[in-house]
Amino acid sequence: MEYRKITENKKQYLPLLLLGDEQESMVDRYLERGEMTVLYEGGELLAAAVVTDEGDGVCELKNIAVAPHSQGRGLGRRLISELCTQWGARCHVMMVGTGDSPATVPFYRRCGFSESHRVKDFFTEHYDHPIYECGVLLTDMVYFSRPLWVLETPRLGFRRLRTEDLAALRPILGDEQTMYAWEYGFTDTQIAEWIERANRRYQTCGYSHHAAVQKESGELIGLMGILPEEIDGETYFGLGYIVARRFWGQGYAMEGAAAWLRYAFDNLGAQQVIADIRPENSASRRVAERLGMTVAGEHIKYHNGKEMPHLIYIKNEED
Ligand SMILES: CC(C)(COP(=O)(O)OP(=O)(O)OC[C@H]1O[C@@H](n2cnc3c(N)ncnc32)[C@H](O)[C@@H]1OP(=O)(O)O)[C@@H](O)C(=O)NCCC(=O)NCCS
Repeated sequence: MEYRKITENKKQYLPLLLLGDEQESMVDRYLERGEMTVLYEGGELLAAAVVTDEGDGVCELKNIAVAPHSQGRGLGRRLISELCTQWGARCHVMMVGTGDSPATVPFYRRCGFSESHRVKDFFTEHYDHPIYECGVLLTDMVYFSRPLWVLETPRLGFRRLRTEDLAALRPILGDEQTMYAWEYGFTDTQIAEWIERANRRYQTCGYSHHAAVQKESGELIGLMGILPEEIDGETYFGLGYIVARRFWGQGYAMEGAAAWLRYAFDNLGAQQVIADIRPENSASRRVAERLGMTVAGEHIKYHNGKEMPHLIYIKNEED
């Protein structure tokens, strides 16, 4: 199966798109500004979808349709999963609006969406004819949303850091005990700089610390990711993990760091990943060791004019 991005002549897919939105003038409202992805198998068109960028990290699935003879084979779910990966780097939430119909609502719920809000009488006011689905007259538009994670584990979702995260990061980066390796808690200005640096790195190398969000509560409980680490003029893929004190001892660092280690090998093409850890930091060393990392050397970091010895843990892809 092959996904294709369609940038020209999108109207050739209209027959399929009309399954998802039956009035052409309504499709015209988003088709040009939307990004279209289609799914082919052996030259046969199986499905199509259009997603728009709504700004502020929000994208909207405007249309999704699977060819009638291919419905119920898991293709709709696969296409949504592909779209979430595509948009996860740019946006933090995907919205979708649909009629309150048994033909679509269960599908979106099965694909990880949950109800967000309703726009009253949208169908009766915007469409030029009544729309029935499964014998039900569609009236309100029901909006569903789904977080877009860059990476996820059973309990954690990872997304890019953003300016508004400052308050949530204060109990983590501002806490001297958590920031043991730096030997002080960060000020708001330093936390803002941390967020800015991470955002610069997303643009330049494509990775950095990400917000670790507890999926169940939506709470930001830590920072994890792969960082460009420089040692003696050489840049390495470095594994970073910081968990808020309140969440220590619950296996979050291990769960998240294991996923990021795999991500570095599978998605970033790393052959080797390092972790820079202070020798006295036994909790962090334990995580690295349980991940199969071993000490390969040591080096001194200079921070605020202080000498800070660090052990260099390493894991190679073939280990
Ligand atoms: C809605 C649509 C995109 C779903 O695609 P699909 O490939 O048939 O769906 P999948 O096979 O991937 O189904 C994924 C899950 O949703 C469930 N599901 C799909 N349609 C369902 C329905 N009508 N009722 C209950 N569950 C449904 C499936 O059972 C599956 O559940 P599982 O987690 O238990 O396996 C497809 O039916 C379609 O193209 N319909 C016409 C266009 C349309 O209505 N688009 C939506 C506009 S809002």
